[in-house]
Amino acid sequence: MKSPKSIDPAVLELLPKASLDGVETVWDRYEAQQPQCGFGSLGVCCRHCVQGPCRIDPFSNGPSKGICGASVETIVARNLLRQVAGGAAAHVDHAYEAVEALELAAKDVLNYSLDEIKLQQISQGLGIDVSGKDKRELALEIVKAAYADLANHGNRPIQWLMAHAPKERIDVWQNLGIIPRNPDREIREAMHQTTMGMDADPVNLVLATAKQGLVDGYSGLKLATDIQDILLGTPTPVVTEANLGVLKKDFVNLIIHGHVPLLSEKIVYWAKKLQAEAVAAGAEGIQIAGICCAGNEVLMRSGIPLATNFLAQELAIVTGAVDAMVVDVQCIMPSLAQVASCYHTQIITTMPIVKIPGATHIPFTLENGDQAAQEIVRKAIRAYGRRDSKKIKIPDYKRKIMAGFSVEAIIGALKRIDPEQPLKPLVDNIVNGNILGVVGTVGCNNVKVTQDQMHVELVKELVKNNVLVVATGCSAHALAKAGLMNSEGTEDFAGDGLKAVLTALGQAAGLAAPLPPVLHMGSCVDNSRIGDLVTAIAAYLNVDSALLPVAASAPELQHEKALSIGTWAVTLGLTTHLGVVPPVLGSKMVTELLTKGLSDVIGGKFYVETDPLKAADGLLEDIRAKRKKLGLPS
Ligand code: SF4
Ligand code: FE2
Repeated sequence: MKSPKSIDPAVLELLPKASLDGVETVWDRYEAQQPQCGFGSLGVCCRHCVQGPCRIDPFSNGPSKGICGASVETIVARNLLRQVAGGAAAHVDHAYEAVEALELAAKDVLNYSLDEIKLQQISQGLGIDVSGKDKRELALEIVKAAYADLANHGNRPIQWLMAHAPKERIDVWQNLGIIPRNPDREIREAMHQTTMGMDADPVNLVLATAKQGLVDGYSGLKLATDIQDILLGTPTPVVTEANLGVLKKDFVNLIIHGHVPLLSEKIVYWAKKLQAEAVAAGAEGIQIAGICCAGNEVLMRSGIPLATNFLAQELAIVTGAVDAMVVDVQCIMPSLAQVASCYHTQIITTMPIVKIPGATHIPFTLENGDQAAQEIVRKAIRAYGRRDSKKIKIPDYKRKIMAGFSVEAIIGALKRIDPEQPLKPLVDNIVNGNILGVVGTVGCNNVKVTQDQMHVELVKELVKNNVLVVATGCSAHALAKAGLMNSEGTEDFAGDGLKAVLTALGQAAGLAAPLPPVLHMGSCVDNSRIGDLVTAIAAYLNVDSALLPVAASAPELQHEKALSIGTWAVTLGLTTHLGVVPPVLGSKMVTELLTKGLSDVIGGKFYVETDPLKAADGLLEDIRAKRKKLGLPS
């Protein structure tokens, strides 16, 4: 039997409408691609030089080497390294732009108020003397330190890593020789290392892949989150709703999609300011909603509702009620302009490296952010007047959600129980088994699997077994839509031990209801918040993070970024579940290195399992084994 396309009722309601409206979706194009190339799926195809493409016969009935003599191990390992470097590059580029924005803000060219606590925290971490310095001086020092990392020459390690990573881990990475230097150099080196006639040693290539994970973790994720928090504020808990039912029939609906919050926050600001213009145009107001991580960013800081996640971005337009969708970078389907052409929706691209034929391009620069945001909001207001009421169908599905769980917000809630040692109540409950362990679920949707199913079924099983789940990215969207990010979710799905802890925390926080069983920690770059939490717990207990009953999962990974984030989680010593098989199975040796061999040298490993309940069992087994090693009841 064919598996359903999604478990999201809004998606299931809109798919027939898409067909009726003559809209081709990602699911149609996936079908048109069948059968997908077996060589590509196994990772055994190489196009790194123009003698190729070369492909290795996985059944040993044909070539076992590329024309240059590259073995299947070399080809698979090289391909993986390039993919992980691609993911790291995306996050480093994102972080770089945030640093440039902070520089302009510190020099008063841009008007941002700057988060005092975060400035102090990052300065102290980096060893910057804070005495007598005002916010802008501190910000400039931080910018200087960031640029020193981004541009360093020689062999100086990334200071963001040295300052923030768990100390025991730094020793492990040093021994393996994988501490990165400036990220651009490392990404360039990965391209060099994998070009024709270079590294043929799969072990060396896998270690280089681990290094790219560290590039992503500290010069991508951590740097981006830290700088964005300074610029835009560190998130605190917010309550709103998730799923396409947040769109409002009589409002101008403007969707923010992509990953970088700099423009998105401007749009949120200007949408509030320009409400009167929307009313003058006949609407009741302006409703902003988010897709992917730009959505997560404005959710975390401004309480903006989530529209939907990656796989349903086209269907948001199929509602006929989206007046404009503004996109920045990453995870934006090029098909959006085509889908929008069937409706009145304006697709607006904003970045010089993301242009889509058929979309309107309104350039966003750091200096013109306010003008660009106003222009975009006004475009949405004008488009509202061109709606075709016969084409509107907003699925009536949305779930209440609580989000905004930065590490600072979690520690703030815990401080109400123990002001002196805020981590103690959390750790005590892990020690006594009320909380069996912690799993971070991250990453995307992937059209190869039923949308959201892996995220939701895996997490329901984990929380039932008293695992506290923290989530980011499109995983967080999936769990939000499924009702796992509100107090009722705790009542309905959490095991007794976890429920008791979340209820006590909710009461201490003055909510008169439990905290949700899944804590939304933000966007994909905010996986650094999960890393910070793990690092803080490891430091509090004075143990290596690899020993903690903590694991990670990318249940429906799609993007190269998910591979680089996952690789970073492995370097932290975590067992990292992948719910979709990455293209490495063509090499037994590389597969074994990733799923077993790495564990001996780095503590963490990849764990591939495509069945959600089996994956939950595997992660529970891993957590229990770690508890046993620590002498904790399991
Ligand atoms: Fe073939 Fe080697 Fe060129 Fe790859 S690098 S395409 S394996 S000849
Ligand atoms: Fe994302």
